[in-house]
Amino acid sequence: MPRKLAAGNWKMNGLGAALAEVTALAERCPSPKAEVLICPPATLLSRLSAAAEGSPIATGGQDCHTATSGAHTGDISPAMLVDAGASYVILGHSERRADHGESDATVAAKTHAAWNAGLTAIVCVGETEAQREAGETLGVIQSQIASSVPDGATAASTVIAYEPVWAIGTGKVPTLKQIAEVHDALRGQLNERFGSEGNEIRLLYGGSVKAKNAAEIFAVSNVDGALVGGASLTAEDFGPIVEAL
Ligand code: G3P
Repeated sequence: MPRKLAAGNWKMNGLGAALAEVTALAERCPSPKAEVLICPPATLLSRLSAAAEGSPIATGGQDCHTATSGAHTGDISPAMLVDAGASYVILGHSERRADHGESDATVAAKTHAAWNAGLTAIVCVGETEAQREAGETLGVIQSQIASSVPDGATAASTVIAYEPVWAIGTGKVPTLKQIAEVHDALRGQLNERFGSEGNEIRLLYGGSVKAKNAAEIFAVSNVDGALVGGASLTAEDFGPIVEAL
């Protein structure tokens, strides 16, 4: 399993024409050193998985339900994501925590469901600006990890994404020291809880990652890649980030 991961979260962006960006990315980065992942909106997942076939680009969902099927209008099960070609799913993104009231317990239940379907869960954590200013960052994040990541997490089943809420889509980025402080603390927590496996679980940074700051962020200790929003939407923007890993 490649250690580094460049993951793109397209959020609620992308119509059919956006599939051309996947082809362009595959052409631009034919043999990336890092693993490359794109998580498009559910409407594009199947087509994007087909477009990425034969390329090094993996695909993932942006959320899933805990059930395999049933009366859950508008929801998508982990099995459906797998059926659409996904190998990953993003869970507990701060936008879902805020917009859909997802608690740590909900995220943990979804993570279990994702594992059961064979998906790798990318569990997101991050503090708000007010929490950072109040000096609560490490406490908030470690509590989110403790309650959102179920027992039994492995490097193959789980990736953690640290995304400070105040850095998402704002152009504001923590200092490299601040990123290192959180990632080192997360690594310590994972090691303590999961032993040597905790050392292998990948830790992504997310929040205003761009081509211009990717290389310096990737050089920070315990940063194993990035979860990228806006700059993952085009091959022109995402290609250099993939190449920086
Ligand atoms: O999940 C990725 C994300 O929240 C970061 O978004 O646009 O700041 O790169 P962006």
